Amino acid sequence: MDPDSTLCYCFHISKRKVVNFTRQRLPKRASQLSECFGAGTGCGWCVPLLIRIHEEIVGNAAVESDDVTAEEYEAMRARYRADVASGTRKRNQYGDGGTKAAP
Ligand code: FES
Repeated sequence: MDPDSTLCYCFHISKRKVVNFTRQRLPKRASQLSECFGAGTGCGWCVPLLIRIHEEIVGNAAVESDDVTAEEYEAMRARYRADVASGTRKRNQYGDGGTKAAP
């Protein structure tokens, strides 16, 4: 994923926007990233990635490059949403660390 790829599809928020928000505000909890235009408060798909970004920035680690393309990330979200809709997967939420690792 490049920095301008969409990270949160529900609210059309780019990875760059979330990273910059996190660097500027240094929120104490990942759930405070929801203050960045509602990131993570829709379907929940992006919550594990938001948590990872928060840990990397607030923990002063380098933001890792993603090993998935924007297209792969979008396809993974489509599968996530289908699984949540069919009841085979729990919806990701802040506070539970996300139920599955995001890319
Ligand atoms: S993709 Fe971020 S809440 Fe749905």
